[in-house]
Amino acid sequence: MPDLQDYLRERAAWIDRELDAAMPSADTPPRVLHEAMRYSVFSGGKRLRPILCLAAAEAAGASPACAVLPALAVELLHTYTLIHDDLPCMDDDDLRRGKPTCHVVFGEANAVLAGDALQALAFETAARLHPYAVLELARAAGSLGVVGGQVADIARGGKAPSRDAVDFVHERKTGVLFRAAVRMGALAGGASHASLDALTVYAGRLGTAFQIADDLLDAAPAPGAARAELSPHLAVYGVEEAARMANRLIDEAVAALSILPPERTEALRGIARFAVDRKH
Ligand code: IPE
Ligand code: IPE
Ligand code: MG
Ligand code: MG
Repeated sequence: MPDLQDYLRERAAWIDRELDAAMPSADTPPRVLHEAMRYSVFSGGKRLRPILCLAAAEAAGASPACAVLPALAVELLHTYTLIHDDLPCMDDDDLRRGKPTCHVVFGEANAVLAGDALQALAFETAARLHPYAVLELARAAGSLGVVGGQVADIARGGKAPSRDAVDFVHERKTGVLFRAAVRMGALAGGASHASLDALTVYAGRLGTAFQIADDLLDAAPAPGAARAELSPHLAVYGVEEAARMANRLIDEAVAALSILPPERTEALRGIARFAVDRKH
């Protein structure tokens, strides 16, 4: 396998080309909608979920090409969640990936609708593979998944949450989509029951560790800036315990892969370490 950074760059470029082909062009009417959808999809995401989807197919012994459709589906769905998450009625963020958010550029109504359309395109894309991909994605997206996690996150208000409450939010807001990405890739690759179970454990641990790492990155002060407010998760666990938890979860994620041939899981192991060591 090439260097991990090269691997991630090459895979992200592949995903970008496929996304470009799968989406209506920016001049398709209504233009503002397709421009908004493309603006958010092509604004510098790491493409980690689709890369995991492709790598899971390989871990199952198949070619990554067989998992392109679910890889695109999970990234389209992820982009919709970010557009809605940034809206004034949610986190009210003006910047995403260092650029003005979708609603800042296109207005709130167009941002809501661009998110809606990306979600529909995600399901259409999953359906082009197989009904099981739609099922995995729908479960991850719905009230028992991301949407439920977002509601629980908002419902906290200003109150100090319990460990159970912050774990609930992390699992649903982030964990479920990582799990869906890996499971769709594994299923596309024809994984055995045992392999699918192992990959599901891997993805669950990885998703939680990724979200903890995200909170830790947000909490790290920029040079010269005051220390940022801690996320509820960090406020409950403390920065040091959270960092230990993330590393322990990654060890467990990697350990779960041990039933698979090691030459097929090199990428998944590399991505797991990257999830907690990354700087953005
Ligand atoms: C951001 O996810 C939202 C979280 C669940 C932490 P990513 O860090 O994967 O977002 P992009 O797509 O690479 O910007
Ligand atoms: C975003 O969560 C996760 C989803 C949209 C499901 P956060 O609100 O914690 O993440 P950022 O900081 O906006 O990326
Ligand atoms: Mg949020
Ligand atoms: Mg947010």
